[in-house]
Amino acid sequence: MSDAEEFWNERYAERERIWSGHPNQALVDTVSPLAPGRALDLGCGEGADSIWLAEQGWTVTGVDVSETAIARAQAEAEHRDLPITWVAADLATWVPSEKFDLVSACFLHSPIEFPRTEVLRRAADSIVSGGHLLLVGHAEPPPWSRYAEEAADQAEIHGDDHAGDDEHDDEHDDGHGQGHRHGQHHVFLGPVQELESLDLGEEWEPLTVELRERPATGPEGQQAVLRDSVVLVRRR
Ligand SMILES: C[S@@+](CC[C@H](N)C(=O)[O-])C[C@H]1O[C@@H](n2cnc3c(N)ncnc32)[C@H](O)[C@@H]1O
Repeated sequence: MSDAEEFWNERYAERERIWSGHPNQALVDTVSPLAPGRALDLGCGEGADSIWLAEQGWTVTGVDVSETAIARAQAEAEHRDLPITWVAADLATWVPSEKFDLVSACFLHSPIEFPRTEVLRRAADSIVSGGHLLLVGHAEPPPWSRYAEEAADQAEIHGDDHAGDDEHDDEHDDGHGQGHRHGQHHVFLGPVQELESLDLGEEWEPLTVELRERPATGPEGQQAVLRDSVVLVRRR
């Protein structure tokens, strides 16, 4: 079992459900205007985004390193009678064997070592001409995150206002992730940095590169406005 598999299975075992079951709003806003085709959901977790995509008519493959998360996603999809392909695999080594019209990576953050840029570039390679790559992620950590302080240090080091920490908390998370094990591995990026880090080249047309704010509630009921990076690019 890889470190990623062990970490994320433990994380999902903490509770019967970690995430809200609702699709990410940035996905809904960004993908709704697109014509459905084949979609790949990277780090699909408990499957809310994949399920929403399937309900919109997309043919969906959801990949996640946690078998626990995949089992929950699969059960929910079966309950809704949605034919989604679920893959329990480590994206560090998994290579897409087919082509996609959309690759979505929402909050594909991990507090342990994870070759995120390599994974995203490889997934981008699987997108057909005219297809889209959507990246939605934390531009900075939620203020209740246990790693917010560490993130501030990282931001200072990187001279980057939008650099964040490795914690993946959102309003649905209880903030008790165990990212302390390798907390220094992940730096959250602002939308421009996110796009630049992939270095996709002229073949890709940026359609959305923006910082979005959304209200959120922390594990103790704290209210905050979280800032997300939203990047949508289209392959020419
Ligand atoms: C913060 S959660 C986001 C889940 C979901 N996309 C969402 O927006 O709610 C990150 C997800 O990435 C998955 N993940 C982390 N590292 C991974 C890896 N190496 N391979 C595949 N999935 C991974 C985790 O299991 C987890 O489900």
